[in-house]
Amino acid sequence: MKIIAVTQARYGSSRLPGKVLKTVNGKTLLQLHLERILQSSKIDELIVATTVENEADAIETLAHKMGLKAYRGSINDVLDRFYQAVKSEQPDYVVRITSDCPLIDATVIDAVIEACLANDCDYCSNTINPTYPDGVDVEVMKFSALEKAWKEAVLTSEREHVTPYIWKNSTAKGGTLFKGISFENKQDYSGYRLTVDEAADFELISKLVTAIGDDKGWEEYVSYLDAHKELFEINAYIKRNEGLMKSFAQDKIQLRTITNFAKSDEYRSKIHDLIPGGAHTYSKGDDQFPKLSPAAIAYGKGAHVWDIDGNEYLDCSMGLTSVGLGHAYGPVVERVKAELDNGVNFQRPSYLEMEMAEKFLSLVPQHDMVKFAKNGSIVTTAAVKLARAYTGRKLVAFPGDHPFYSYDDWFIGKTACNKGVPDEISALSVTFKGCSIESLRELFEKYPDQIACVITEPERSPCGNGCTCSLNVADFLRQAIELCHQNGALFIADEMITGFKTAFPGTITKYNIEPDMATWGKGIANGYSFCALTGKKEVMELGGIRRTGEEKVFLTSTTHGGETHAIVAGLATIEEFEKHDVIGHNHAIGDLFIKLNNEAIAANGLQGYVEVVPSNWFTLFNFKDKTGQPNAGLRTLTQQEMIKRGVLFQGAFVPCFSHTEQDVQYFAEAMRQSLEVYKMGLEEGYEKYLVGEPAKPVFRKFL
Ligand SMILES: Cc1ncc(COP(=O)(O)O)c(C=O)c1O
Repeated sequence: MKIIAVTQARYGSSRLPGKVLKTVNGKTLLQLHLERILQSSKIDELIVATTVENEADAIETLAHKMGLKAYRGSINDVLDRFYQAVKSEQPDYVVRITSDCPLIDATVIDAVIEACLANDCDYCSNTINPTYPDGVDVEVMKFSALEKAWKEAVLTSEREHVTPYIWKNSTAKGGTLFKGISFENKQDYSGYRLTVDEAADFELISKLVTAIGDDKGWEEYVSYLDAHKELFEINAYIKRNEGLMKSFAQDKIQLRTITNFAKSDEYRSKIHDLIPGGAHTYSKGDDQFPKLSPAAIAYGKGAHVWDIDGNEYLDCSMGLTSVGLGHAYGPVVERVKAELDNGVNFQRPSYLEMEMAEKFLSLVPQHDMVKFAKNGSIVTTAAVKLARAYTGRKLVAFPGDHPFYSYDDWFIGKTACNKGVPDEISALSVTFKGCSIESLRELFEKYPDQIACVITEPERSPCGNGCTCSLNVADFLRQAIELCHQNGALFIADEMITGFKTAFPGTITKYNIEPDMATWGKGIANGYSFCALTGKKEVMELGGIRRTGEEKVFLTSTTHGGETHAIVAGLATIEEFEKHDVIGHNHAIGDLFIKLNNEAIAANGLQGYVEVVPSNWFTLFNFKDKTGQPNAGLRTLTQQEMIKRGVLFQGAFVPCFSHTEQDVQYFAEAMRQSLEVYKMGLEEGYEKYLVGEPAKPVFRKFL
């Protein structure tokens, strides 16, 4: 275990220049500060992180005289200076102390370190909810937390100060990225100032040290101030953390600029010879992105991904909405890793299948049985098959304005891309208008006693069909189920996208709706290939083997359906949703997202041309031209500009548990700047600004 303390010391201070070199009783404040830190019994090394300014020579000289290392780095990017000071040492924990605390107390340093270790925190500090005097400030963090902040912090305040990115995103402040604990004293002494920011502070410290010496504990100094109110009053008027507050007020987001796609271009030039479509999902394909974009992703962490050229992006679609917690999310990855050692596939089912079946069904009290599979299309098709077997009917009904339910013929046969699907098969699917109960009623009237089932998403971000109806989701679902049952058909709720997003586990539980079956996939295992069909016993049992003498229904039977590491990914994901208010976090992120992007649109005067569909679990953008029509060229231009600014944007944003408020601010600033280009495209034609062709619809008849 290696614990390194780093103290930040610089000469230039706007309020009291050269303060650390001021002397009290023949000792500089910096020497006093360093001597007091060295009393700690828990730190292995103390490093002085100072600046490249000439005046800082004296600080470096003093550090060396005391046998300490000094690092000289950036004046303004203090986070970088701090990180670089310890990087080569690779400690386990870093203790942050600042040289404006001449009377820092080693007993407090040791106590905060102890609390951090005992609670296995990423961050522990007595400054989160201050109860100690200003000037006895200690922050302890894992080096890994510091490194993450160094990589990801982009706000001015987060670079000018070392730890805001960590504490703002810590559990102590309601965040999710770091485990943080506030270290507090029983009694609140936060009104006392033992720090040196201004001349009055220095006057108090000088008098205090002259009166009782420089070797006392913080409580003795506080007692002395209690007994000598005239001393206490010297600096009592100064506000705590004024510098930090000023820095917050001036926050500006620094966007990345991405222009290098060399490896991506090489990838693009080869991949279509190897893989038809160049990918395994059409919506990930090259025809869905502008020319200036990444062709392939190298890795992802949290809400960010890195392409094969090393460019970093804020992720928006999160694995086509399948990653609800974040990429490589720790607790899920750990469970998967542990399970891999047990083997993944056996001659008989793994015991985990029962554990997962019981767990999943406990979340969906409407349903009695569950079947697992690897893809959403497999379970939607399984539901359709069961409905046909149960009702003895042929037709399947679904909203015609819906983008996707399955790659199987019953769905694809009804799209523009129906080559390869015989007309006889396509004719077995019938469609209605997604948000209209009347349209569904008419369908049942048109095909009496022929429709086996209705399959639809229980809720959609926009209702579909481009209309502006204010559909009451719960009412629609209840009426649709009633209509199905009156007409002898089954109702299937496809929770593929809504599951683990609109609510936990989904819309049918949020509104206590009882579909005959429900299909689940994206998001239930944080991106791992694990999907499920749940349903009522009398329907699901048809796929079983207990009805001796009756005709067998070959439901789904897949070699990989019960793969163990994917099942535990699902179990770990469910556990995280149960442990944390993931839905609450994601919806709050979504609300902020809608607000800030509407502001970005308004800042460019583009209301009416660019719209944010106000759905906090899945936000979509509409990009329109001067005539008010959706425009693929302008949409692709926005994609191009967002990608250039480090956002992997494809027209939608799906909040995940790893998205932070800062990610949303980043997105909105990137959108604000991108829309400046949109505006020019709107006036002068997108062709002038878009490199390459506009993205094309996935479901198009001709390439
Ligand atoms: C609503 C809906 N249902 C089903 C599917 C099919 O899922 P999968 O791609 O896992 O086969 C999708 C995929 O996008 C979907 O959006």
